[in-house]
Amino acid sequence: MNDTNIKTEQILEEIRNVKRNPINKKTDSEIESFVKDLMGKMTLEEKVGQLYQTSHDGSAVSGPSFDSSRNNILIKQGAIGSMLGMINQVDMFRLQKMAVEETRLGIPLFFGNDVIHGHRTGFPQNIAMACSFDEDTVYKASKYSAFEASHCGITMTYSPMVDIVRDPRWGRVTESNGEDTFLSSNLARAYVKGYQQDDLTSYDTLAACVKHYVAYGLAEGGREYNTVDLSERMLREHYLKPFKAAVDAGVESVMTSFNIYNGVPATINKFLLRDVLKGEMKFDGFIISDYTSSGETIAHKVAKDEKDVARKSITAGLDHEMMSTTYSDYLVELVRDGEIEESLIDDSCARILKFKYKVGLFDNPYKNIYPNPSEFFLLEETRQAALEVSKNSIVMLKNEMNVLPLKGKKVTLVGPLANETKVIGAWGGITDHLDCVTLLQGLQNYDVDVNYIKGAEYFELINSDLELIEQSVNDSDVVIMAIGEEQWMSGECNARADITIPEAQVELARKISEMGKPVVGIVFAGRPLIMTDIEQYFSSILYAWFLGTESGNALASTLIGENNPSAKLVMSFPHSIGQIPVYYNALNTGRPFIKENPEPYRSVYRDIPNEPFYEFGYGLSYSDFKYDNITFSKVEDGILIEFDITNKSEFDGTEITQVYIEAMWFSVSRPNNELKGYKRISLLANETRREQILVKNDDFKHYNAELVNTTEGVDYIVKLAKSSSNIIKKEKFNIK
Ligand code: GLC
Repeated sequence: MNDTNIKTEQILEEIRNVKRNPINKKTDSEIESFVKDLMGKMTLEEKVGQLYQTSHDGSAVSGPSFDSSRNNILIKQGAIGSMLGMINQVDMFRLQKMAVEETRLGIPLFFGNDVIHGHRTGFPQNIAMACSFDEDTVYKASKYSAFEASHCGITMTYSPMVDIVRDPRWGRVTESNGEDTFLSSNLARAYVKGYQQDDLTSYDTLAACVKHYVAYGLAEGGREYNTVDLSERMLREHYLKPFKAAVDAGVESVMTSFNIYNGVPATINKFLLRDVLKGEMKFDGFIISDYTSSGETIAHKVAKDEKDVARKSITAGLDHEMMSTTYSDYLVELVRDGEIEESLIDDSCARILKFKYKVGLFDNPYKNIYPNPSEFFLLEETRQAALEVSKNSIVMLKNEMNVLPLKGKKVTLVGPLANETKVIGAWGGITDHLDCVTLLQGLQNYDVDVNYIKGAEYFELINSDLELIEQSVNDSDVVIMAIGEEQWMSGECNARADITIPEAQVELARKISEMGKPVVGIVFAGRPLIMTDIEQYFSSILYAWFLGTESGNALASTLIGENNPSAKLVMSFPHSIGQIPVYYNALNTGRPFIKENPEPYRSVYRDIPNEPFYEFGYGLSYSDFKYDNITFSKVEDGILIEFDITNKSEFDGTEITQVYIEAMWFSVSRPNNELKGYKRISLLANETRREQILVKNDDFKHYNAELVNTTEGVDYIVKLAKSSSNIIKKEKFNIK
């Protein structure tokens, strides 16, 4: 065996010998005295060293400073606080051992990574999971993701992403919880609780880092990393709330965003970091920059040079610098020259040490490093959880003549994504697409009589397949067509100006629809696509997003009727690209266009309607849910809506009942619709149950021009609804 292999084997043997004793949770006073005592021994250089994160092997991420030889030197000097994107257990152990045994104070590293919808087992893309409107679904996904990642050396995940999004041209809508603040705030809490389980010393949990702080989703034109501009009032009304929810849920870290706010990059924005996050929200964890986002403030032309970056970042309240090296290069000098107070360094360093102590790294620096992580991957329980989460994430958009469920029908399966394994979605961790169950495999797993002919690539017809398809269709009851975008076409740095369905796919759908059998469209996408041209060729449509490792099984289960689709859209689907941005909680304007009473000189396009193609909160089921005996009543805590709901079908099913409010007037213009309540209600076939949803008094509040969050004591319409535009019943109340 050569030297490297011998060294590797020796390290693996050391990892095998790691004792994994239970680690006691730390009390606040224990944390405080530990950190105070350790800080008292540290030099300025060592304190600055805790504020720097870099990458190492480059396998998971590439960046300007993942030179491993340089890192070995810096780690021995105690000049690195954490590593980004590592998954190689031998390397992680080696670096950790260097930090713990070869530095003066033996302060361990922490290892951060992007585990946003699964680690080795792929869960649905985040926007898909959000369509479940279900905290339990999201909690389950993050709990199982944490289990796999915490057994792969990882201490912290850079998740949840809670950017509010309104522009599907932006590739990162795929990582979000959609366009609504109320829902995204609830899901942010569920992610944090799922990852952290309120026990950071556990060997099965991850610390969470909520991102991207703040308003990154407002990038102009949906163009990645583009300019953002919004009022403080909108910031507080829509964009800060999910972060407040995550902070209140105990999130350990917050990641700054690449964009500016009020002209100043978020990463060096003192108002955002010190005044709002650490001040108003009382956030006591640590703030980490996004990947080189501190150094990029020079490109923003808001910092003169790297020394200025360091000065502005630490002054603004940035505690941990990811990949940029300005802290490592200039903070000591800035303190020694009297340009910044050492107390700023002390505060940031204390936050990092507190985190490391809380998660048990001082008790066991190797707690997450295992000799063979794959023992913990793709466990049956995890795959089953992924399947259940995937089932809850599928949105049925159409089902004319009840073509679905298939009920033994003979199927011709076509389309570029019909047998595609790359359906995990963006930021897929270390998932292997070859583990993915394709739609074809799923149908076969569920004993569907299916004949598969591809028929088209993403952007071109396979003409030679057309005759075969026609023969197969003649011998089938129904066609299933799998269309959409490739998984790499959304996610970071995948903004697209054209999000229509490629012409080749529309053409294939048209040709097949003329073959006389019903066609079911299955759309794989990381974002809302423009469905306007292709929708007409489908009798039924399932929006599959990217559902992860169990995609094919979740879809097949839904197609045959074992799973009754329940998810609802969390982002409006535009009629055309020209309609972007279109979102449900829009303002009325001074000249609202009333479809039922069209007048000239109103706020409307000449060539498309104002309504989206599919609205926020829309989704169908095999069940028909009926509502009776609906009552609205004012109670001490708010407005209580009670109703009988009946599942009029032979299928057990789940409805997501929604409640919206509308202020009749206010000192500022408020949206015509604001989601303030929802409930997933599961009913057996033909079951009736009396249910209730409470809209809390506080949820009627809105920021006014003086930035006071208030109800202003005006009248509100409270609406019980099946979607943002499908109102079942409404009633007016005055809310003090
Ligand atoms: C990326 C992303 C961020 C991610 C970070 C670390 O550029 O913006 O979401 O967590 O770098 O990989």
